[in-house]
Amino acid sequence: MCFHCVIITDPVLGTQLLRSKVVDKMRFVYSFLDPFLGGTNLLTGHTDEHWKAVRKSVAPAFSAGNMRGAFEHVVEHTMALVDYPKEGGPKKVHNIDNLLLRESMDVIGQFGFQKEMNALRSLRTGNAAETEAVTSLLGSTHEIESRIQEVYRWYRLWKADVRVGWGMLGRFQAIVRGLLAHMKAGQPEPGSFADLLLKAKDPKTGKRLCDDQMFPEIAALFFAGIDTTGHTGTFLLYTISQHPEVEAKIMAELDSLELAITPQRPSPRPLTYADLPKLAYLQATIKEVLRMYPPVGIGQLSVSYSHDITLAGRLHIPAGTIIWVPHHAIQNVSFNWDDANKFKPERWLTTGTEYAVPEKLPLPRKWYNDWESAATNGATGNGAGGTDVDESGNSKRPKRYFPFAEGPRNCVGQSLAKVSLVATAATLMQHFTFKLADEMGGPEGVRKSEHYTLVIGLGNGMSMHAIPRPGVM
Ligand code: HEM
Repeated sequence: MCFHCVIITDPVLGTQLLRSKVVDKMRFVYSFLDPFLGGTNLLTGHTDEHWKAVRKSVAPAFSAGNMRGAFEHVVEHTMALVDYPKEGGPKKVHNIDNLLLRESMDVIGQFGFQKEMNALRSLRTGNAAETEAVTSLLGSTHEIESRIQEVYRWYRLWKADVRVGWGMLGRFQAIVRGLLAHMKAGQPEPGSFADLLLKAKDPKTGKRLCDDQMFPEIAALFFAGIDTTGHTGTFLLYTISQHPEVEAKIMAELDSLELAITPQRPSPRPLTYADLPKLAYLQATIKEVLRMYPPVGIGQLSVSYSHDITLAGRLHIPAGTIIWVPHHAIQNVSFNWDDANKFKPERWLTTGTEYAVPEKLPLPRKWYNDWESAATNGATGNGAGGTDVDESGNSKRPKRYFPFAEGPRNCVGQSLAKVSLVATAATLMQHFTFKLADEMGGPEGVRKSEHYTLVIGLGNGMSMHAIPRPGVM
């Protein structure tokens, strides 16, 4: 067997490719996840009629209106999170990554299925069933990623840790079955993910999806949402802890909105959905973290099964070639960004920062102009003359920032992730300043423990001290 693979780090060509209507998921790679997630799903399936039907059905769950409605619940979970770093005082070391992963699980369970997962609470209660649910959900993603690194792992049943991994995957699937039963038995909130999934129809039969089709969609939602959001929150708190000047600006912003806790204001007003756009500097900091540490740093693996593709009017990619657009590389390479290695939230205070700057790129300017003026082999469909926006109102300008992917297969849950990250960061920072624990070995140690498989991760989590701010009770 022989594969050809093209890796595209040029953002203009990458955008053209990802927005193309002829490229599809590289199923050979994504199908690896199907046995663990119980079958093909939104994340792993072909860009076909079935995917389109499910995506169209469930996407409204993540609309702005729903986010506004769900915000109160998101804040409830972030407020519950505050209690844990408080325990044991400033000397205690907390695995912040583990806490944030648990919070993510609780938020997705509540938002998508109106189900309390009690991932955080189980730390206190020690409830065996809940603890097992958390361990198996977190452990399953770890196990799946281990199998990507070590492809023969699943056969190595003589190894104790492989047998433990199989056990976790089994329990993860049992949790998903429980969620499916829960949503079918109850009355899911109208417009929620559970409600919309129950109403989705199979385009082949015109009938509602059967259990075997809904199961992998539920599993994929947890698989795609927990680690990505949890680890982003972790890198956010870590980078802020390394940049006191950034922390001071975030605190000033919270204070200006009367959200900071101070000795004079020990109980500030609650954070509201209307505050989100006003937290511009915090949002800029999150964007910068997503630039430097994109959770799905590996990016997108695509293929055009039937059409040859021509990029920028002259780069010919034969049908069947694997095309890899690595997000981490594009977002960190120096020809794309001034001070690419520097953590500079300020860059996001200027509008349009996410767009590529063709003048700075290595390929001749004319190549990009050609792309802007003509569509080739059906592979562009964007950037071609006329208006500046596509039919969905999105700008046609090529991008250099893809943390949530780009094109039709972008992240369906990104609005939840964004809202949840702002709420979590604002709430935690109201209460604490975070300091990296000595055992992490400083930034060098953190860098060494970072690993990239499907999703960015940290060898042993992120150990930090949470030091209460003056005024916190
Ligand atoms: C910071 C947080 C997140 C990041 C950076 C992120 C990033 C991404 C990326 C890059 C993809 C494309 C993956 C690929 O094609 O290989 C994706 C797809 C997806 N994400 Fe997210 N994600 C985040 C949070 C979430 C959340 C909270 C959910 C849901 C609760 C979610 C659900 C999904 C789903 C279902 C897909 C597949 C969409 C499709 O192909 O139609 N993600 N995400």
